[in-house]
Amino acid sequence: GVSMSTQTATQRISLTDLRRMRAEGERIACLTAYDASLAAVLDGAGVEIVLVGDSLGMVVQGHDTTVPVTVDDMVYHTRAVVRGCRRAMIMADMPFLSYTTPAQALDTAARLMQEGGAQAVKLEGDAVQVEIVDTLAAHGVPVCAHLGLRPQSVHKLGGYRVQGRDSHDAQAILCDARALEEAGADLLIVECIPTLLAAEIRGAVSIPVIGIGAGTRCDGQVLVLQDVLGISPRAPRFAKNFLEGQVSIQAAVRAFVEAVKADTFPGPEHGFE
Ligand code: KIV
Repeated sequence: GVSMSTQTATQRISLTDLRRMRAEGERIACLTAYDASLAAVLDGAGVEIVLVGDSLGMVVQGHDTTVPVTVDDMVYHTRAVVRGCRRAMIMADMPFLSYTTPAQALDTAARLMQEGGAQAVKLEGDAVQVEIVDTLAAHGVPVCAHLGLRPQSVHKLGGYRVQGRDSHDAQAILCDARALEEAGADLLIVECIPTLLAAEIRGAVSIPVIGIGAGTRCDGQVLVLQDVLGISPRAPRFAKNFLEGQVSIQAAVRAFVEAVKADTFPGPEHGFE
């Protein structure tokens, strides 16, 4: 009945919950998952956002980058993750070159949300993506903009490295963050930038800012699950193996959530200056 579906809808973590968490200083815990069984572990451990990241190109498909991932791949994995989660918000990545125009971005978002069942989409963006975010927001698509190190641009960047270290680049990322919020982004993910720049971005916007390799001063933290479980061939320096000293995957994920909530992860050794 109507009341059942209303109740189900309100039990799932919403943007309203995430905004309240930012306002109250409660850290947001986010991890990636690509299948139903691990997604259920995350959901049970209290992870607020389960990200179906295009990192699946690397950790599931075995590619060197996220570039080969397709919208079909994302829909397939999003459907699996959705079946494993009851409480977490499911956010799905828009893969490389699937949001080059507002019309294409709407098609991709439709597939991820209507076929996949995601509640939000994520795209890697700077000023060029402002119009895309504006269009998605105007059509009711919750959007997370991913700034700093943008792995889809790895071939253009010439490698995975810390972004925003010189003041010109830092200013550009800060301006992009403001412009993307203004365009209607609901969340930001900042990857691999200096701790102080992340703090400055956090202070310059009013939406929740989730960091990865961006220091301690964000509203939440995200990591790739395989890095948390210590099974990535090349885990980045900013990641931490939470399975060490734990007896199960469930316990490792709970340890991640507790460390994020208690502000003991990330430590200074996981950040950049
Ligand atoms: O693809 C991904 O998993 C991501 C996170 C690492 C933020 O973008």
